[in-house]
Amino acid sequence: MTESPRKNILLTNLSLLTGFPLFTPLPDFATKTTGNMTNKLLLPAIVVVAAVALYGVQSYFPNLLSMVKFALMKDGRENRVLQYVKDHAQRGNPNEVMKSIDTFGWNEEWLMNVGDDKGEVLTNAVVQKQPKNALEIGAYCGYSAVRIASILPEDGHLTSIDISSSNVAIATQMIDYAGLSNKVDFTVGTVTTTLKDYVKQHNLAPFDFIFIDHAKEHYLSDFRYLLKEGLVAKNTVIVADNIFFPGAPDYRAFVNAHPQHFKTVEYERKLEYSKMSDMVTVTELLDDWNGVEM
Ligand SMILES: C[S@@+](CC[C@H](N)C(=O)[O-])C[C@H]1O[C@@H](n2cnc3c(N)ncnc32)[C@H](O)[C@@H]1O
Repeated sequence: MTESPRKNILLTNLSLLTGFPLFTPLPDFATKTTGNMTNKLLLPAIVVVAAVALYGVQSYFPNLLSMVKFALMKDGRENRVLQYVKDHAQRGNPNEVMKSIDTFGWNEEWLMNVGDDKGEVLTNAVVQKQPKNALEIGAYCGYSAVRIASILPEDGHLTSIDISSSNVAIATQMIDYAGLSNKVDFTVGTVTTTLKDYVKQHNLAPFDFIFIDHAKEHYLSDFRYLLKEGLVAKNTVIVADNIFFPGAPDYRAFVNAHPQHFKTVEYERKLEYSKMSDMVTVTELLDDWNGVEM
């Protein structure tokens, strides 16, 4: 019985892809049809390889397409997550607000929050420090602000700064929905242009807890600014997100290079809403160093 050429091509393809001799007369068949064989095999092979690769990536990082879309354009997902929270979480319940944001991030659209896995490290650091006067750099939709503010001590307060007024508008509504408005104040701006005046105006310095989660290339320069300006002090705890991805290697190197001034613990965790690796660092300032190297 002769096998159909279509079946032969399929088996040959599988043989080539898997390395198993599924189609034994491969050399013979291949020699007879050499002319258009390559053409016939190439496209199906590419399709199969792409499908296998996509399946692998999809199971490793289910939100990859959503993340790529986010990187390419502003698509309004910040408004959608706020609406999702209003539809799914009870007003005044911070835990439900956080869970709804996480569900949206996992199942609907990827979000650049610290997320549930790394968020545990942040929560533990807040619980341990019990800050009275915390600072967050990078508010986005207010997820980490809810996480921090919901476990602050009675007399604790969080100041959150973000360069984007539209993100601050969403974060403000998120905090209000979580019932934490009395614990958090948002301000639009950056560490080097606006924070010092804001802090002076509201009599806030020095901060005893800082969460750094904004533009990765500014982590080190902004942290050094905080040190230089006395906006942090001995025993201030600094949590920094995304040390691996997108990555802040210069910040990491700096806090590790000065063990006489910093005690740093590194936590390898998963990037938000994915299985990719990321890292959060928790650093304690051991003295009143101003960050200037001699
Ligand atoms: C990763 S998101 C923050 C996520 C948030 N901490 C959370 O976990 O829910 C980064 C935020 O930093 C803000 N940002 C970027 N560059 C900044 C800068 N130089 N100063 C302050 N905020 C900045 C962005 O607008 C964005 O909202």
